[in-house]
Amino acid sequence: MDFIEPAAAADRHTAAPASYLRRSFVVPHPVASATLRATACGVYQLFLNGVRVGDRVFPPGFTQYDRRLQVQSYDVTPLLRPGANALGVVLGDGWYRGRLGVHSRRNVYGDTLKFALSLDIVDAAGDHHVVRSDERWKASQDGPIRSSDWKDGEHYDARREFDGWATADFDDSAWAPVRPSSHGATLIEDEGDPIREHERFTPQLLHTPDGSRVLDFGQNLFGYVGFTLRCEAGREVRLTHGEVLDEHGNFTLDNLVPEGSFGLNHAPKQQVVYVTKNGEQRYQPSFTGHGFRYAKIDNWPEPIVADDFRAIAVYSDLRETGHFTCSNDLVNRFVENVQWSRKSNFVDIPTDCPTRERAPWTGDIGVFARTASYLADTRRFLTKWLRDLVLVQNDDGSVPNFAPAIGWPTRRLDGSAGWGDAIVIVPDTLFDMYGDPEVLSITWNAMLRWVNFLERRAARSSLWSLGRRNPHIIDTGYHWGEWLEPGHAMSRDFLRNLVHPDAEVATAYYAHALRRVAHAGRVLGHENDAARCDALAARVMAAYRERFTRDGLVHSSRPCRYVRPIALDLLPEADQIANAAALNRKVIDNGYRIGTGFLTTPFILGVLTRFGYLDTAYRMLENTQRPGWLYPVTRGATTVWENWNGIDDVGVPRDSMNHYAFGAAAGWLFSDVAGITPLEPGFRRIRLQPHPGGSLTWVRCSYDSVAGTIRSHWQRGEHGETHFEFEVPQPAEVCLPDGRRLDVAAGRHTFTCVA
Ligand code: BGC
Repeated sequence: MDFIEPAAAADRHTAAPASYLRRSFVVPHPVASATLRATACGVYQLFLNGVRVGDRVFPPGFTQYDRRLQVQSYDVTPLLRPGANALGVVLGDGWYRGRLGVHSRRNVYGDTLKFALSLDIVDAAGDHHVVRSDERWKASQDGPIRSSDWKDGEHYDARREFDGWATADFDDSAWAPVRPSSHGATLIEDEGDPIREHERFTPQLLHTPDGSRVLDFGQNLFGYVGFTLRCEAGREVRLTHGEVLDEHGNFTLDNLVPEGSFGLNHAPKQQVVYVTKNGEQRYQPSFTGHGFRYAKIDNWPEPIVADDFRAIAVYSDLRETGHFTCSNDLVNRFVENVQWSRKSNFVDIPTDCPTRERAPWTGDIGVFARTASYLADTRRFLTKWLRDLVLVQNDDGSVPNFAPAIGWPTRRLDGSAGWGDAIVIVPDTLFDMYGDPEVLSITWNAMLRWVNFLERRAARSSLWSLGRRNPHIIDTGYHWGEWLEPGHAMSRDFLRNLVHPDAEVATAYYAHALRRVAHAGRVLGHENDAARCDALAARVMAAYRERFTRDGLVHSSRPCRYVRPIALDLLPEADQIANAAALNRKVIDNGYRIGTGFLTTPFILGVLTRFGYLDTAYRMLENTQRPGWLYPVTRGATTVWENWNGIDDVGVPRDSMNHYAFGAAAGWLFSDVAGITPLEPGFRRIRLQPHPGGSLTWVRCSYDSVAGTIRSHWQRGEHGETHFEFEVPQPAEVCLPDGRRLDVAAGRHTFTCVA
């Protein structure tokens, strides 16, 4: 496909007007079939004879644009007619040229938008006609979208709308010719799941204490607001989007600037500026989205009618596969919140949050991939992402913090333990959940290069460990560490990590990566590599035990130090048993509140369950005190917060309200409470091992695995017994709380236990 460029390069600091491109053409005969293929450097909307083509939002999505660019195909047969036709395209900055990531850098992939299209028409006589993106197209930047930015929002002047601009009759004599262009990346068919509009929410109108008018849509989400307005021309109305109200009940964006970030974090403006035309008008943004539940309205003509506004949730269209409900409604809302954080952060790429950074952080999806794969069919979405991750891996094998790249200014922070490991953890998880070794083949070389990098890194020692050097301990490089334990602030964690890398975390993940790579190697038939990784892992584990435990026992005030070696199976069984007992005591002493951060919170409930501390696990889950998973629910949260201090007792909101990492604990409800896990990759054999407990009197759970739908339902009886009902599409091993272990065939099975 040939590329064309509509306009001059963008300024580095400001968002440019959208470009409108058009071309008319003649179709001589009735059309039998017509397929349109399109892509852009930027984001595009496509029109044929004035009608919007397709229902995708923000095509072509986000890939490592300098290496690969997705092409979308549309069947446009019904939109064409014999005679004069016209194509119209609007191009916005999107991820290509709009603000990206932590530092909100612009023009990360280039400063000029480009577009390519080919329309293949077969007429009734069987003849082919092709319309291409060529110099016959014309362009204008004088249209209504005066600027659009991925993070800052959109400025739309309705007085500048070009009536009928994408129809054949439009007079484009004032429009400028386009320039031929080129783009070096490989063009690929769409690999992800299309981004689409989903749920719609009508707001309540709030009058906040500071005198503002704020719409409350009742759900935090990623998307935009569509509105209807009756007005005279020339009024500039503004909608600013935020996630939360402050301690006084006023609209705020302050939570999007982390404490102590020294102005390095540019808070997204998340603002729509709309200039009215005359009469009744409708608008919704084209090329921007916001993370929000609230929208503050300024300069709106009275009266403000709540029903004139709709929040529209926008996310990649993954099939939802997991459903969990139980007798505790707070737990049910927690599961919904996790699902909402997944939706809001699955917009073609997995992001940390849909507001402050919107960045495809490796570590976040590393901790969340398994839970996400219970909630939705993540195969296409995450495999697409892994292909970008493989592409951005550095020559030395270290793995950056993001894929695709977002213009992070230094490579010094690449290769962090628990973050870079996503290159192993995500494919390993996908293989386990879906059973297709292809994902391991795609990432195999990258995984091997990553562990080779770690081996070289371990061979170096930091000044901190002078005198006790060990070539299997990693104590150099930058590591985010456990990250955001209760009471921790991001800026302090970051500065401490710069000076003092957390060798415990780094060495634990080194051993873990080696063993998962060994596993992948055995699946793929790379026996020598597998044996080498296993042997090295054994030495790293021995070094870990020697350095970070006293004869196998952990001594630390931090629960993460206990959870990690157990969850990653780094110690001999007897040590694990003793450390699990110590962890259990710690959790009880802490009043069942959470004491872990980013990396081990997803594991703690599973670890407690595995070593017989089910009661502790349930009390932790059901605890409504801060820090705890249900505390945000009691504060009205509709998504998962980034920080355990998300909203404190006074009501001050801190950091993002929509990070899925801590919500990874919802996976435990599927794997342990309902007890659905793959005994063989892809659920070819299933284990059903439910763990009734806590205050729960019943659980209903279903999971649409690749092998078919699995259901697990249990209910407490009146006399202390529990009734179980299972449905499995494949043979399964059933493990009941009374110790029975049975093999069952595909079908429905019921059991009663008096435990
Ligand atoms: C992001 C995270 C990310 C982290 C690195 C934060 O600013 O929002 O979720 O993983 O930095 O530790």
